[in-house]
Amino acid sequence: MIIIDGKKISQDIKNEVKIAAGKFNLENGFFPGLAFILVGENPASQSYVKSKGKACEDIGFYSVTERLPATVSEHEVLSLIGRFNNDSKIHGILVQLPLPKHINEQRVIEAISPLKDVDGFHPASVGKMMIGIDTFFPCTPYGIVELLKRSNIDPSGKHVVVVGRSNIVGKPIANMLVQKKEWANAVVTIAHTGAKDISYYTKQADILIAAVGKAKAITKEMVKPGVVVIDVGINRIEDSSAKNGTRLVGDVDYDGVKEVASAMTPVPGGVGPMTIAMLMVNTLKAAGGKL
Ligand code: GUN
Repeated sequence: MIIIDGKKISQDIKNEVKIAAGKFNLENGFFPGLAFILVGENPASQSYVKSKGKACEDIGFYSVTERLPATVSEHEVLSLIGRFNNDSKIHGILVQLPLPKHINEQRVIEAISPLKDVDGFHPASVGKMMIGIDTFFPCTPYGIVELLKRSNIDPSGKHVVVVGRSNIVGKPIANMLVQKKEWANAVVTIAHTGAKDISYYTKQADILIAAVGKAKAITKEMVKPGVVVIDVGINRIEDSSAKNGTRLVGDVDYDGVKEVASAMTPVPGGVGPMTIAMLMVNTLKAAGGKL
């Protein structure tokens, strides 16, 4: 069984972006800039934004983080986005999701200029992706494509089964892998909570992408021997042997599935770090730089 090392691959990508950013600065006299908007006190969101900011710092990108209280009005968030849309030092804008209930997420996403949409969530980006035009790809699915590519696992002609249909992972990864392109061209099934028997689908997968949001939902009995497993889940479970009493696990029962899989991403250290690396790639691209 091959362990697909997302930590190593993401570090390789960040090193490449750092070199490209240095070159970009020599040619243009400035570094790509990324603005983060963090609303409220969600601990996971705070931790993600901190990691993303740290990645910017390591690479040499300019970055600003605006922290707003959970009580902030939608109007204020929209005007802040307007300010960043018109700020020439800012090339990418990231509003960390989820937002408090009283703020309409879709309106916020659509307020971001498609030219600065480094999350790839704007309908203009989603539409371009759908019809196979180059655009900003959402960072987690983009990271999955890159993990497969850099592990030399070609999805072309393979049956990819995606479990989960979120706008952030399930739908976009299915879309990207179905395109008639290199490192895509797969036959794709999306299985989800509407299926009567999920395992009927998962058993057929050559490449299984689990984005369910439930700890250890995919077990050994649900996959076929030789399957490549990409685990997008990040779930915190209780573990009395761990220092703080909890640990992170994926959507896949790693210890069981590893006995039959040919390759797997671990959690942590698989897809997670790729998301940040691809955000850096998107930000370089937003500024007009190239890898
Ligand atoms: N929340 C969970 N994943 C993401 C992401 O990729 N981008 C943003 N902005 N928020 C998220």
